[in-house]
Amino acid sequence: MVKICCIGAGYVGGPTMAVIALNCPSIEVVVVDISVTRISAWNSDQLPIYEPGLNEVVKQCKGRNLFFSTDVEKHVSEADIIFVSVNTPTKTRGLGAGKAADLTYWESAARMIADVSKSNKIVVEKSTVPVKTAEAIERILTHNSKGIKYQILSNPEFLAEGTAIQDLFKPDRVLIGGRETPDGLKAIQALKDVYAHWVPEDRIITTNLWSAELSKLAANAFLAQRISSVNAMSALCEATGADVSQVSHAVGKDSRIGPKFLDASVGFGGSCFQKDILNLVYICECNGLAEVANYWKQVIKVNDYQKNRFVNRVVSSMFNTVSGKKIGIMGFAFKKDTGDTRETPAIDVCKGLLGDKARLSIYDPQVTADQIQRDLTMNKFDWDHPIHLQPMSPTGVKQVSIAWDAYEASKDAHALCILTEWDEFKTLDYRRIFDNMQKPAFVFDGRNVVNVEMLRDIGFIVYSIGKPLDPWLKNMPAVA
Ligand code: NAD
Ligand code: UDX
Repeated sequence: MVKICCIGAGYVGGPTMAVIALNCPSIEVVVVDISVTRISAWNSDQLPIYEPGLNEVVKQCKGRNLFFSTDVEKHVSEADIIFVSVNTPTKTRGLGAGKAADLTYWESAARMIADVSKSNKIVVEKSTVPVKTAEAIERILTHNSKGIKYQILSNPEFLAEGTAIQDLFKPDRVLIGGRETPDGLKAIQALKDVYAHWVPEDRIITTNLWSAELSKLAANAFLAQRISSVNAMSALCEATGADVSQVSHAVGKDSRIGPKFLDASVGFGGSCFQKDILNLVYICECNGLAEVANYWKQVIKVNDYQKNRFVNRVVSSMFNTVSGKKIGIMGFAFKKDTGDTRETPAIDVCKGLLGDKARLSIYDPQVTADQIQRDLTMNKFDWDHPIHLQPMSPTGVKQVSIAWDAYEASKDAHALCILTEWDEFKTLDYRRIFDNMQKPAFVFDGRNVVNVEMLRDIGFIVYSIGKPLDPWLKNMPAVA
């Protein structure tokens, strides 16, 4: 029986391995992690992450051929194929701080593999890593090899949160990079055989190691670039009276452009886009490609601009001050159908409003109060370290309260800010909400989920990203 061990039981390791186990009953899959709480949660009925469909998959194979364990060394030593899916945060200190990927966790995993291995291994990079990481990993492994042979493969993951299970079941492509030597090709084939249990062969792409590593960074950069492009257009739409949804629709009808990923928003979030682009920028700079680096940096700058622009719009619309005013925050996760808040635009928007002394009442159907408080007090990039290394839960921000539902969050509020596109925000009883708010009552829709006309008829002053401005907003000071 082939044995797989995955180091890292997070958003990628957990769902990916569950789908492999479900589709490959003849393979034993063990997911290991240094976080005892995370592994206990995987072994309970309350999984550590919220992902539609994940429970059902895990239920079918947990205890059959899918196991979760903290006994990292034992399972690594027994495995034929080791996936490494640990955190690769942005460095906060030293060379490349604020840009380069911090490979501390990757390196410690590689050293541990070298220490405990007694048989030949295929080591698969599942984490997103800088180009040429495989070379460094190879050096660590072969330097301590004791005669054991290692093959390193790059097999980046393209799942998106909220749709992880369907992405894993029907991937657009599976990418496997490896050495173009007889042993390298054999290792590629072994991993191909795993995916071939459910992925059609023409969707499994094989490349050299560096192409696979770079393709992952490139794909995320291209996706984020589309969002920054449409968000940049949204600012111009507001200035000119064009409607960004109409522009996106018209542009996306061009089959060369395509309709996906053209939704204007308050900004993109998530654990990947910013981190991976910063990493790409750093790699470009290290290779002396300043123009290329600056080109990609702009994607992040426009994203920051979009978040700032939103905060400025809120403050300037409300007589240039939100001091002491209650603002209901609808949604905190970085997108719908996930409880994940990593790099969510809500953090920057909330911090911006708190900077202007607002009082916030935050509601999100999947994010815990503790998580929100942590996010609003944590330093940039601290979130991307294993949970046990993150700062303890702080006492919390006094001007922030957490609401059980949208109605509680909006009661007596001066304004609502919609920051996540949860479906339930489309069908709220906005009449009831309006009646319970201070007047004038504002809605700032950072996700274009509400029916603007209907809300204006009720009496709200509505701002919706990239849509023709409410007459009220037109008369307010321009936003930078
Ligand atoms: P995560 O923080 O959810 O999980 C990583 C896990 O690794 C943590 O539970 C941590 O405790 C564990 N870990 C760290 N060092 C360890 C060690 N030495 N031994 C055992 N366990 C260790 O992160 P994630 O979102 O699953 O991302 C993992 C990687 O996958 C990152 O490189 C990320 O860029 C990439 N990725 C993420 C996504 C996504 O949507 N989240 C998508 C594609 C790729
Ligand atoms: C992303 C990539 O899509 C995935 O392939 C990769 O493996 C990991 O990074 P993820 O961050 O989980 O996935 O979610 P995604 O759906 O890409 O959304 C990222 C952010 O962009 C979210 O904040 C989302 O709300 C925002 N977004 C997305 C927009 O603002 N507009 C869009 O049109 C699409």
